[in-house]
Amino acid sequence: MTILAIESSCDETSTAVLENSVVLSNVISTQFFHKKFGGVIPELASRAHLRTISNLTEEALIQAGKTINQIDAIAVTREPGLIGALVVGSNFAKGLALRYNLPIVPINHIEGHLYSGGIEKELEFPYVSLVVSGGHTAIFYVKSYNEYEIMGLTKDDAAGEAFDKTAKLLGLPYPGGPHIDKLAKQGNSKAYDFPRAMINSNDYNFSFSGLKTSVRYYIAKNFHDGVPKELIPDFAASIQAAIVYVLVHKAIKAAIEKAVKTVVVAGGVSANSELRDKLAIAAAKHGMKSVVPEINYCMDNAAMIGYLAQKKIEDKSKNFFDFSFAVSARALRAKRK
Ligand code: KG4
Ligand code: ZN
Repeated sequence: MTILAIESSCDETSTAVLENSVVLSNVISTQFFHKKFGGVIPELASRAHLRTISNLTEEALIQAGKTINQIDAIAVTREPGLIGALVVGSNFAKGLALRYNLPIVPINHIEGHLYSGGIEKELEFPYVSLVVSGGHTAIFYVKSYNEYEIMGLTKDDAAGEAFDKTAKLLGLPYPGGPHIDKLAKQGNSKAYDFPRAMINSNDYNFSFSGLKTSVRYYIAKNFHDGVPKELIPDFAASIQAAIVYVLVHKAIKAAIEKAVKTVVVAGGVSANSELRDKLAIAAAKHGMKSVVPEINYCMDNAAMIGYLAQKKIEDKSKNFFDFSFAVSARALRAKRK
């Protein structure tokens, strides 16, 4: 089966072609222009998706060596995300589905991340998955392609948001995560003692808004004119240590409770070098392995949407095709009669 996948939930437009779970192409266009606003502007994100989605679909087909006539199904991100951005992807998929008479498999974006660890190498169930991005922070116990349990969620900011908002306080560009990661390599992570929120809570939930407040108050109290340049690496290293410590601690604790052999990380924050290193070390200490997908499958991408669609289709016990997602109102009325 050959699947065309479309992802447009936030500020990445992405299209991919997969053949029997193998990724033939995965094209990602990041909307870098949001940088100058210090965050994603939903209206501009939708318009940018609208401009790129058609060419990007063509590009994915060309790179895969396929034509639209060779596609068997369309996978598209249904939710969650910015509504205008999602509508662009969904409606584009619906248009193609109507024109080429193709079924649509709507996919939940977070579930896409959850299973993305299997794209390069089939993963053995069950495993614990840590999904960390600009919009989400959660720990899941994953039993199969259809069954998983949410073990913990963030109560406020997502881990990526914590990176981005604290980076902004340091005067770094958006998105701040990669800048903090880079600067932290030259800094002392023990220079500042920022809070490791909910570290002793008897659950797998997170809270990152206190970290941002703590950094803000520290800066306001000690510096009149922002953080001096020479101190920024120490700030970056201390902030990163606070975020990573809690993520690793809770993910490993969850994996121990569920007695799994594997911990999988996904979402944009999994690009963080300290998170990768610390998680690998902690997992090995407990006889587990940590799996971090290649960066193009970690960030928002269509390959993960197509991959999960294929797995859902393979599961004959459920019908994942959603024709009503594709048919026109007239066709729907006719169907109801
Ligand atoms: O998954 P993603 O591409 O988009 C969604 O939010 O869904 O994640 C983007 C987030 C941003 O908050 C960005 O700062 C963070 O991932 N990020 C990082 C790194 N690279 C990206 N955070 C820390 N260290 C990094 N190297
Ligand atoms: Zn995402």
